[in-house]
Formats: sequence, structure tokens, C-alpha cells
Amino acid sequence: MKTTLRCQLCQRRYPSSTTVWKCHCGGLLSVDFHARFPREKIQKRKPSLWRYREALPIEHDRHIISFDEGFTPLTEEQFFGKKVFVKQDYLFPSGSYKDRGASILISKIKELGIRKVVEDSSGNAGAAIAAYCAKAGIECHIYVPEKTSSGKLLQIERYGAYLHKINGSRNDTAYAAEQQAKTMYYASHSWNPYFFHGTKTFIFEIIEQLGWKAPDILLVPVGNGTLLNGAFLGLKELQQEKIIDTLPRIIGVQAENCAPIAYAWKNHGEFDGYTRTKETIAEGIAIEHPVRIHDILHALKETNGDMVTVTEKEIRDALQYIQRKGYYIEPTSAVAIAGHKKLNTRKNDCVVIPLTGHGLKTK
Ligand SMILES: Cc1ncc(COP(=O)(O)O)c(C=O)c1O
Ligand SMILES: [Zn+2]
Repeated sequence: MKTTLRCQLCQRRYPSSTTVWKCHCGGLLSVDFHARFPREKIQKRKPSLWRYREALPIEHDRHIISFDEGFTPLTEEQFFGKKVFVKQDYLFPSGSYKDRGASILISKIKELGIRKVVEDSSGNAGAAIAAYCAKAGIECHIYVPEKTSSGKLLQIERYGAYLHKINGSRNDTAYAAEQQAKTMYYASHSWNPYFFHGTKTFIFEIIEQLGWKAPDILLVPVGNGTLLNGAFLGLKELQQEKIIDTLPRIIGVQAENCAPIAYAWKNHGEFDGYTRTKETIAEGIAIEHPVRIHDILHALKETNGDMVTVTEKEIRDALQYIQRKGYYIEPTSAVAIAGHKKLNTRKNDCVVIPLTGHGLKTK
């Protein structure tokens, strides 16, 4: 099957050679592509996310931009007296799971012959895009809120990207980047559909590491849903190819201070009135208006999932708890650990939690 881009709103199709990242009607795009999983071949390949080559929509190997990243460890732990598997996605070249999306997206951008990109971010996605652009020799402009952790800002600059600090909210930052996207390609981790074909490798790895079995519960921190939507996309592909038959319950966790998805989940999809945002130490998920909220709600519904919210104190306590177990992660990642503490699970449930970002970048 040929790869095409399809609009979720008006169903218009674009060829894979298009440089359009949003439909002309304003709708979000998806990549229509048939992922395959030749398990025998996959198991013999290098431990990198590119081992799922037949499931990644890049036409020619010569365009691949990779540091041999991925296949991060999945370790069994006891947290708060409950068994859990932690997926150590803070162990990526740029220090977060966003490298999954960046590797596929920047490879596609290389394939399209694009020389300049713009992205907006709370820090980690910007660092990931900057790192892969540095490797690919692509000019890169990253917009971030001025208050972003200094470690992330420094990292983006050191990769050689143009750093644009916006004096305003995360929303204002996205707006500024979208203005620049009128003149250069938008390598957005929320709008650009190729990013999700990278983040989906997170669930491929977990399922392979569990002996090609799906876990019962997947707990993820959610802001824009790049990890949650990626996981759901990957699960559907694995199900379609009969690698798994049942889907794990996806449980999203948000900071109580910025929880539009939890709000919408409780209010049957209604979120227009959500204005309760306050500051949170979980800077990576402080997203008031997630672009793909409908996809997130759909994934929760189809997997019989749920949303959990956690307070600032619960996040701080969970961060201290897990760092003292030897996992040096950032506050945003601790949100899922705090959510797990609150969640009622059965003794034999196979629960997986990602550790999404490295602690060295934050205070
Ligand atoms: C460390 C960390 N964890 C989780 C997330 C969650 O983001 P998303 O919902 O877009 O996957 C982010 C986003 O920036 C992040 O930086
Ligand atoms: Zn459209």
C-alpha cells in the first residue's frame, strides 16, 4: 500500500511527497500506511527503534537520521508496594522519549528535501528536534516559553538551533511558532503526523520486551498526547497485524493545576470552558489546549482507560520517592508515578510506566 496523508476532518488525501503539515481546511492529518511486523527479522536487528523498519513510513533508508536510539530498558520494580515495569525512556540521546518522534520526523523532512524547520516546545521536544536537525544539517528554529528550565534552553542552543524565548504562556509560544510556520516547515510534535509514527515505537518495544504480549495497564503523563496517541496508534497497528489481540487500558495522568483532558474526560468530551490553569512543576505537560484532544479521548474510550489527576505535592513526593530508588528523572515524569500510587490495580496486573525525561535538565 502507498503512503498518503489523510485529513481527519474532510478526508482529503495528499501524496507522501507533500510538504503540507495541516489540511487546507484546517484539519489534522494522519499518515495512511500499512505497518508490518516480521518478528523473526526484527529480533535479529540492532537494539534500536529502527528495528521496526517495516512499520516506519520512511521510503528510503538513505534518509534515516538516527543515533541508534531506542530499545530502552524495561525494568521490574516494586513502587509503593506494587509491582510495576518502568520503561526508561529518559535514556535517549537528548534525554527524553521525544527522540522517538524526532528521529522519524526529521528523517521524513530529510526525505522531503526540506532545509529549514520551526518547532515550539516546553523544552524536551525542542531539544530532540534540535539534536536531529544538527545531525541532519537542517536549520532549526525552536520557540519556548521564557520560563523553561535553563538546562533545556542551554541544550537547544548548544545543538546550534536558533532559540526564540517567548515572554508568555505555552499557548503564546505555539502561536508565535505557527506564525513562523507560514514561511518554513512546521516540525511540530503536536500537529505533524510523522512524529506519532516515532512515538509509537515505545509500545512496540514494550510488547517485544514482554515476550510479544501486551501489558494490562499503561500509565502515561499527558500534555499534548504525543506519547499517549503514539502508543494507541502502535497498539492498533499491532492488533491489526494480529501480534496482540487485546489492548491494555491506557490511563493518562495530568497535573491537577493543568488538566484539560481530565476535565473533558469527565465532561463527556466538553472542554471549551476549561480555564483553570495554574502553574505546575510538571512543565512538560502544562498544555491548556491540546491540539489532538479528540484522538486522546478516543484512545481512552476504546481502551476502557481513564484519567487521573495529581497535586503539586503528590508530584514532588513521587519525584523524591523515585529518585531515591535511583531513577534520576524530571518532575513531569514523576506525574505518572504519582498517578500509579493513587490507582487501584489488581495484584497480578502487568502495569507499565514510562520515565519520560532526564532529571539533569531540571531543578
Ligand atoms: C518529560 C516529559 N514527559 C511527558 C511529556 C508529555 O507530553 P505529551 O503528552 O505530548 O506526550 C512531555 C512533553 O513535553 C515531557 O517533556
Ligand atoms: Zn481537510
